[in-house]
Amino acid sequence: MHRRILAPGALAAASLLLAIPASAASYSPGAPGIGDPYYPYYGNGGYDVSHYDLRLQYQPATDELAGTATILARTTQDLSSFDLDFLLDVSEVRVNGVKADFATSGQHELVITPKSPLAQGTQVTVVVRYSGVPSTKSAYGFDTWHRTPDGAVAADEPESAWWWYPSNDHPLDKATYDVSVAVPDGTQVISNGLLQSTSSKLGWTRYNWRQNKPQATYLTTLAVGKFDITTSTSEGGVPVVNAYSKDLGDNDGAARASVERTGELVDWLSGYFGPYPFSSAGGYVPNTTTGYALETQTRVYYSPKQFANGANTSVVVHELAHQWYGDDVSLKGWKDIWINEGFARYAQWLWSEHEGEGTAQELADYVYASHPADDAFWTVKPGDPGPDDQFDIAVYDRGALAIQALRNEVGDDAFFAILKGWPKEHAYGNASVADFEEYAEKVSGKSLSALFDAYLFEPTKPVAPAVKAVGAVAAVAQPKSWKQIEATNDVH
Ligand code: TRP
Ligand code: ZN
Repeated sequence: MHRRILAPGALAAASLLLAIPASAASYSPGAPGIGDPYYPYYGNGGYDVSHYDLRLQYQPATDELAGTATILARTTQDLSSFDLDFLLDVSEVRVNGVKADFATSGQHELVITPKSPLAQGTQVTVVVRYSGVPSTKSAYGFDTWHRTPDGAVAADEPESAWWWYPSNDHPLDKATYDVSVAVPDGTQVISNGLLQSTSSKLGWTRYNWRQNKPQATYLTTLAVGKFDITTSTSEGGVPVVNAYSKDLGDNDGAARASVERTGELVDWLSGYFGPYPFSSAGGYVPNTTTGYALETQTRVYYSPKQFANGANTSVVVHELAHQWYGDDVSLKGWKDIWINEGFARYAQWLWSEHEGEGTAQELADYVYASHPADDAFWTVKPGDPGPDDQFDIAVYDRGALAIQALRNEVGDDAFFAILKGWPKEHAYGNASVADFEEYAEKVSGKSLSALFDAYLFEPTKPVAPAVKAVGAVAAVAQPKSWKQIEATNDVH
């Protein structure tokens, strides 16, 4: 029982509020989307999550996932109800300890109506009890939960959370995480951050992972399976945790020869981007069959296919570059995807230069020369590509070309100051393409709007004073790193 003594005036004001039901008129439902024009129903309105605590159990044999999600949030408006994005079957919801009404709506909305409405600016605890078979669920035609012979993987972009935890599913609402999952003994669980502890009981082993820095929902990953886990510390002092499925077959050696270089590559990238922003680094290679890699925060997801042609440090550089460009500094809206992919691709160009396999300028020249003016490549605007072309090759290659053009325009000193300053400027936050342009102008002291327009926003091939090559593809030699860099784009 909580008591407090109210001044007479406060008491009068309180009873006045209670006496006027009209005050409830300011309470309204939170929006079913956070307001991203590319994906109107992704994320939700009316609250901001600070922490997710997921306590789950998973049975690989049947693909059954069950448990509770405890969500700490703060309201940003007077709320009569609010949504979470979720696909599994919910049995109970409590808001601030009290059972709440809930219903499903649309493709993936869980609509929660608390017993008493929630005032703006207050702290709310939401507990969702749920279960389900994620592989049987789909929304908008997506079914991104990946079962493997010995487990499952949640790693996809932008849609991956709905299959395993309820969330405000948009990068604008980042939060910290505890991910605790029990699996049958002999099976491992991989997630973000650091493993806090494990415990065994009655044939089940529970893994407790913690991410102590803000993390976007799509960057939160879960892998269950039989893994070999390696731990080390980089020369620069970053703890590294990697995991390899015991079922990688012929790709096992090349996967380890690439991912075991994580510590070295994190330290190398720190030279360009500043201190590594998280408490651990690493990657995992499960026995999945899809082709891509994904920059899941601190624990990168790699498909074994990325290593089918031998070791591939380029894809490791790409995903590690995202830890600064995409994960530490996340996009504001999905239209800002260049903030992620342009820079992760450019990091691969810097690595190529470092390895003597073609300079960034040579790669830029090759991109410029290999797409004639009438190539559809130039119709994609990396600065606002539209949802259908969000991950088009042009966002990566034309996106990195724009960064080389910027480098040539402002000179190396300003350019590398921008590259390193950006993650510091927006640490653990969100930023847009416009924010980057503004920041680059501030650091370089130059007006850059013509350059940004030509390289990122016009649906035509830029006339390129900042890029040297103007010849046809035959006139520009293919850099040695080209094929490996392009192969890392093998999405799906
Ligand atoms: N962001 C991923 C990468 O850089 C690529 C990617 C795009 C992706 N769409 C995806 C990965 C969908 C998984 C699922 O490297
Ligand atoms: Zn990428």
